[in-house]
Amino acid sequence: MKADILLGLQWGDEGKGKIVDVLTPAYDLVARFQGGPNAGHTLEFDGRKHVLRSIPSGVFADGGVKVNIIGNGVVLDPVLFAEEARALEDEGLDLHARLHISTKANLILPTHRLLDAAGERAKGASKIGTTGKGIGPTYTDKVSRHGLRVGDILLPDFEQRYHRLRDEHLERLAAMGAKVDVEAFEKLQTAWLDAVKYLATFPIDETEYLVNDALNADKSILCEGAQGTMLDVDFGSYPFVTSSNTISAGACTGLGLAPGRIGKVYGIFKAYCTRVGSGPFPTELMDETGAEMRRIGHEYGAVTGRERRCGWLDLVALRYAVMIDGATDLIMMKSDVLDDFDTIKVCTEYILPDGTRTDRFPFSAGDNAEGPGDIVPVYKEFKGWKTPLTEVRSFDALPQEFKDYVAYIESVVGVPVKIISVGPDRTATIMR
Ligand code: GDP
Ligand code: IMO
Ligand code: MG
Repeated sequence: MKADILLGLQWGDEGKGKIVDVLTPAYDLVARFQGGPNAGHTLEFDGRKHVLRSIPSGVFADGGVKVNIIGNGVVLDPVLFAEEARALEDEGLDLHARLHISTKANLILPTHRLLDAAGERAKGASKIGTTGKGIGPTYTDKVSRHGLRVGDILLPDFEQRYHRLRDEHLERLAAMGAKVDVEAFEKLQTAWLDAVKYLATFPIDETEYLVNDALNADKSILCEGAQGTMLDVDFGSYPFVTSSNTISAGACTGLGLAPGRIGKVYGIFKAYCTRVGSGPFPTELMDETGAEMRRIGHEYGAVTGRERRCGWLDLVALRYAVMIDGATDLIMMKSDVLDDFDTIKVCTEYILPDGTRTDRFPFSAGDNAEGPGDIVPVYKEFKGWKTPLTEVRSFDALPQEFKDYVAYIESVVGVPVKIISVGPDRTATIMR
């Protein structure tokens, strides 16, 4: 058996949570491999809506998936984890029976969040617009070999280790001129240490063995990405990125899977583009059309509630993402959001500041903090389908104009669109 990966091809929020939930019945294990509570994955079924941040989107499967894994590549905030896990257990979900956490996942400390905020303040106008969850500082500690890991919470001297790292962080915060309110901090710390005790009640395992043993026993695995390829720390629009490898290779390092063990790579994208936080966005629409996409698509962050920036589908960026990820199957989301548009545009090329045209994602696309900046997108126009798609359940029943749009994307990207999503609910999904 091979492990399949599902990941975002754009700037996150493509609809990963919904599709993992849809695909879950076909898998024995679902595993998160990177990111942390910066993610917000929305699932809707039976008239209910759930937003998952650290917990894999396979936990709701009825009798289907037995094992959900938080892999070594993930960064975990015990407080946010406890909040999320307790809410699910209050609803009657036996999470302790279906969740395993890697000993090697790094812990987000309260001071990591303070460092995240202080770092953003120090950057001023050129801030990244992070989710404020301490993601960057936690991965920084991991790479600089300072971090605390989930397995450490079982050690007798865990609290001493915690205090050592906390004190280092407090010194760094003081050097950055950040004021720490002692009383408020004490409260955060107490809550964190309590949450660590709760975390310790879950199965904490060498999950690299769990996933490899599962494949050897012919069990199937779906690896669930967080964020999106254009937010990857290496290949995204650096420095306006997250701090992990969001690309398919991240599933190998984030779970302990060798490259040869990877099967399908599902690349998921919206029928248009969105981005939250700062950073270049070549097809961003600053006008009424962008506002309409935001209104119809409810484009507000699932974690922070921030407005998501909106624009037309960017095939230069999409093709780049498909190449880096080796996507084998595409999934197009939120098709219904474009139902009312007379004309639909897709960007096929960029015109660079020196006048050259290119269909390759340029290094310089990382320089500007907002909007298209110096890049001029070249668009191809399509006639809108002007038909509500949300009730459609078969590919054949989709309007011809929509099929033309899909066929064009496939011809440019070179990978088939296998699933089309026409609404937030589990059932609003067309398999091809
Ligand atoms: P994720 O982070 O990739 O899991 O995506 P988010 O949950 O942050 O954002 C996707 C949003 O779009 C959620 O509010 C979903 O409920 C919603 N959604 C997913 N698929 C569709 C769809 O096909 N149509 C519409 N209208 N909404 C969708
Ligand atoms: P899901 O998994 C969209 C963005 C932030 C910011 C940048 C860095 O729901 O798709 P960070 O807090 O990671 O240091 O922020 O990355 N970002 C996301 N944008 N969806 C996400 O996750 C994101 N996680 C981080 O807005 O621009
Ligand atoms: Mg999201």
